[in-house]
Amino acid sequence: MEALNRSLDVDWRLWAHDIRGSRAWARGLERAGILSRGEARRIDLGLAAVARRLEALSGPEGLPEEDIHTVVERMLIEEVGDLGGKLHTGRSRNDQVATDFRLWAKDAIRALRGRVAALVEALAAKARATTGVLMPGYTHLQQAQPVPAAHWLLSRAWPLVRDLEHYGAALRECDVLPLGSGAVAGCPFAIDREALAADLGFARVSRNSIDGVSDRDWAARLLFGTAMTGVHVSQFAEDLVLFSSSEFGFVRLGDGHTTGSSLMPQKRNPDVAELARGKSGRLVGNLVGMLTVLKGLPTGYNRDLQEDKEAVFDSVDTLAVVLPALTGAVDGMSLDRARISRALRPEVLATDLADYLVRTGVPFREAHRAAAAVVRAAEGAGKDIHRLTLEQMRAVHPGFSEDVFEVFDPVVSAESRGGAGGTSAAALERQLAALAGAMSEAGGDDGNTPPRLVTGPRGG
Ligand code: ARG
Repeated sequence: MEALNRSLDVDWRLWAHDIRGSRAWARGLERAGILSRGEARRIDLGLAAVARRLEALSGPEGLPEEDIHTVVERMLIEEVGDLGGKLHTGRSRNDQVATDFRLWAKDAIRALRGRVAALVEALAAKARATTGVLMPGYTHLQQAQPVPAAHWLLSRAWPLVRDLEHYGAALRECDVLPLGSGAVAGCPFAIDREALAADLGFARVSRNSIDGVSDRDWAARLLFGTAMTGVHVSQFAEDLVLFSSSEFGFVRLGDGHTTGSSLMPQKRNPDVAELARGKSGRLVGNLVGMLTVLKGLPTGYNRDLQEDKEAVFDSVDTLAVVLPALTGAVDGMSLDRARISRALRPEVLATDLADYLVRTGVPFREAHRAAAAVVRAAEGAGKDIHRLTLEQMRAVHPGFSEDVFEVFDPVVSAESRGGAGGTSAAALERQLAALAGAMSEAGGDDGNTPPRLVTGPRGG
């Protein structure tokens, strides 16, 4: 039972938040007339002394208590004597732990947003540095149409901007003070909860003491965000694994982000991407685990909730390692322009060939059939489509004229798509500006500095 009961190894990292919450609670008790000014002062100094003792410890090893709250209380009593026993008046570990966890999470979510923003920034900087490179855009992992490599990079940045919105929402939900909810029925002493919230930097107080001690929705929302970031990062990682293979050769990762093999001298393994992809499993798992813990809970506080912290800590810790590594990989990676342009098959312009006929008034379905027939004719002749003669093309459809050969330029194709979200150079510029705008909006409405996006050039 002791081993099952003990959460200290997990909640040890909340010690500073527990001290902070306790000092605020002591001030609250003083305002409520439960502690005299002198008592509150002695408790405050005692908690400061406890903080110094805890700071000097490297971890919870050897401490006999079950959780961090009981450690702090025992040490406070050692510091100030029986007076320390007054601190827990009107408070329960139920509202205490809910408060500590939120105090921790508010900082953690802000740091996490900064790490996500850094990856977005690295992708945007790399996109800027690679304008002019056209690569195949894929559907079904088959070459589909030409797209700027910058467009691909930015397609991996936008999902992360959406993640920032999830984190902003989790932060707002987290910014509610549970302290004063007691064990489940609130506090019988005249605690000014609004003042307590202001003291601890919470935007609001919880409005139902039962919900106050049992609400972990913010944590589930945070874990949804981290799971989504895991999925997004994993998809991008898969691109990197694929594109850095010798079969593609589009991307070269920096030496610091690849490893050799102990056996095969030629290997440059994309470990950073594989590890990022692999780590997404636990990010998804932690979300599912949390929802599973929450779903069966009856009304009020239930000890199952102790499981909340390990999941959240693990997901936040995981991304604290994965995101900077991937950001560094993006900074250090280079695109092999020659390999990319060699890989770009002329058939990726078959759609443009159909669109050419459409511009002469041919219905799209007929134009589509004609372009497909051109592709087949080229295959039959053992040539690339742009090597067919005008006669061969006109044999397929009389709508083709001399200027059809202008279609066989991927730059013309990309430039023809100039609308919002499109592939032309001008559309790409507007996309980068829109990304910077979205970054300053995403999650920036909590009154704190939003994640910044520097779109200036930052190296090849
Ligand atoms: N250690 C618990 C947690 O981490 C807090 C203590 C609540 N325990 C209790 N018996 N009410 O959530």
